[in-house]
Amino acid sequence: MNKLTFAILGMGNRGTVYARNILKYPDRAQVVAMADVRAVRTESANKFLGLNDEQIYSSADALLAQPKLADVMVIATQDAQHRDHAVRALEKGYDLILEKPIANRIEDIAVIADTAKRLGRTVFVSHVLRYTPFYKQIKQLLREGKAGRIMSVEACEYVGYYHQAHSFVRGNWHNSRDCCPMILAKSCHDMDILLWLIDKECLRVNSFGGLDYFKRENAPEGSAERCRDCKVLCPYNAQKFYLSAIPDWPANVLHPEPTEENILKVLDETDYGRCAFKMDNDVVDHQTCNMLFEGGAAATFHMSAFNTLQTRYIRIMGTEGEVWGRMSDKKVCWQRFGEEMHEIDLTEQLKNPSGHGGGDQGLVYDVIRYLQGEEFDTSSITLIDRSVESHYLAFACEQSRITDGETVDFGEFKASMK
Ligand SMILES: NC(=O)c1ccc[n+]([C@@H]2O[C@H](COP(=O)([O-])OP(=O)(O)OC[C@H]3O[C@@H](n4cnc5c(N)ncnc54)[C@H](O)[C@@H]3O)[C@@H](O)[C@H]2O)c1
Repeated sequence: MNKLTFAILGMGNRGTVYARNILKYPDRAQVVAMADVRAVRTESANKFLGLNDEQIYSSADALLAQPKLADVMVIATQDAQHRDHAVRALEKGYDLILEKPIANRIEDIAVIADTAKRLGRTVFVSHVLRYTPFYKQIKQLLREGKAGRIMSVEACEYVGYYHQAHSFVRGNWHNSRDCCPMILAKSCHDMDILLWLIDKECLRVNSFGGLDYFKRENAPEGSAERCRDCKVLCPYNAQKFYLSAIPDWPANVLHPEPTEENILKVLDETDYGRCAFKMDNDVVDHQTCNMLFEGGAAATFHMSAFNTLQTRYIRIMGTEGEVWGRMSDKKVCWQRFGEEMHEIDLTEQLKNPSGHGGGDQGLVYDVIRYLQGEEFDTSSITLIDRSVESHYLAFACEQSRITDGETVDFGEFKASMK
């Protein structure tokens, strides 16, 4: 069998994660090219990839100017670049692993999906949660009818106070002008999971939420503009937070060689060192969405910054029983009415998990198997024609939120996009 070859565009946090996961299948797959405008990122990745100089490109443009170099291109540049990079890569002949969000503007989502369809290319959207043992197990239990007919779903994304500060107050996704609404950036995964598990058409949505805490008026008295100059004791102190994370995420987002010296330099020179209450962030810090599905099932979803743990929780309530779990507990529970409760322990499956509860590696493995024509259950693969739905749902929630919770007819909303 020929090895499946990959070219990676954007060797930041996610591009590097893909490279590491592709390397886990040396007999079946190989990275043959990569590009990043920051040499420090390609240099760092090349310590484990070992590519030749001519396989390393200094920009997307330089890589996309070449003839097709690999079977699959991984698009791991920033949200606002996806449309341009994805369309050009499709036109070059690549199949894609496309980081979510598909695109940051609603009108660009259809452009990418339509281009893939017209050219007959396969695009896997990086909805990594579907590839996790946790959600696969829940889907399996629902398929087996353990809950009966789904009536209510309660789901939460606990963003984590520190993750909120890192990504959505100081980091790449802090301002919707440059990226997209947070419900899309952070929770298009959850929209996808709800659609997948409930497996019915969503009919109507409404949503409430806002940016109510990470604002200048809530800054602790006497706080400085930058954490390194600040004397106030505060959970969002950047120096304490990033230094204690070395060598892992999110210290390694600030610098691929996350030494104390490198991290302090980044804190002095970038927004990552600024007071979390004195940024120019505009994305929400909490949002709640209500959804009504065909057949009467209703779901509520909370995305909130205000939690210690960074994890997800879901409870599916059906006519015959319940299925529930919190991802970080590494177990799924279920109980049929009047019968005993069961706990399914996932620790063995999560012994050496890749990021996102095993989803990062799971996605790469399924892409390899799918494109190499292996027979397996492909019903949960996140191909773009299905994944657009999760994005439209996130945008519909956002439309409701910014119109004070006005109910949005999801069918009409989607039709208006065509
Ligand atoms: N699937 C998930 O759960 C998940 C998680 C986090 C991020 N993401 C998404 O993944 C994407 C990448 O996020 P990230 O956290 O890796 O960001 P990042 O900023 O760490 O990485 C992006 C990289 O692209 C590079 N780049 C910018 N312009 C370029 C160009 N013209 N040519 C080549 N390289 C260029 C940057 O230098 C950077 O290294 C984003 O769309 C993000 O929303 C997805």
